[in-house]
Amino acid sequence: EIFENSSKASLAVASEMASLIRKKEAEGKPCVLGLATGNTPKLVYIELVRLHREEGLSFRNVYSFNLDEYYPIAPDSPQSYVRFMKEMLFDHVDIPEDHYFIPDGRLPMDRIPAFCKEYEQKIEELGGLDIQLLGIGSNGHIGFNEPGSLVDSKTRLIALNHTTRAGAASDFGGLSATPKKGITLGVKAIMSARRVILMAWGESKADVIKLAVEGPVTERIPASYLQAHPNTTFVIDEASAQQL
Ligand code: GLP
Repeated sequence: EIFENSSKASLAVASEMASLIRKKEAEGKPCVLGLATGNTPKLVYIELVRLHREEGLSFRNVYSFNLDEYYPIAPDSPQSYVRFMKEMLFDHVDIPEDHYFIPDGRLPMDRIPAFCKEYEQKIEELGGLDIQLLGIGSNGHIGFNEPGSLVDSKTRLIALNHTTRAGAASDFGGLSATPKKGITLGVKAIMSARRVILMAWGESKADVIKLAVEGPVTERIPASYLQAHPNTTFVIDEASAQQL
């Protein structure tokens, strides 16, 4: 779905999420969201906060699981996705504090496998992800599932690619201070979501969008796996659609 610009696209995504949150609330069921960070989803969160403030959209019934986090990182450091999510969304809506989950960038390494397993189990216990929001890395990664990630890959600690680290370096004040690893929801869990929305804005994403949408399904471009997902929409702006 191609929108004229990222604002219009983001409003459409937030509106779909709000309808789902309201529907689940009416059914008395939890609404389980898979959330993404980065620049791409920011306008969606701004609109969700507006809908909460001005139109009474409640998050009391929402559970959310973030896709990824740098490793190692302290949750209160400026680049942490915990901090990002609090500043963009959680501190401004009525989601209970025990309803949102973000991979823990402080864990000792030997505790990460058990943490990742529990993370996936918690999603399943709540009935699975109703909707998974995604951005896309310029190398085709989703979450921190870098090229080479298999379609059945689990939630895990992963080494970040050079391009991913180089892209994040300005946030960390240089490449040497940029974490070398991340914890990411695996491709399998992403593919298990009942609905997936991948968003991309701007010319810099045009090449990778073409590869993901029109290229072969390959572990070299993990976003291409979504071609086989039964309910995925790529919500993109005209600039990122220009190679299609
Ligand atoms: C990071 C995140 C991804 C995100 C990607 C794109 O690598 N781990 O989840 O999709 O960046 O970021 P942006 O939305 O800023 O282009």
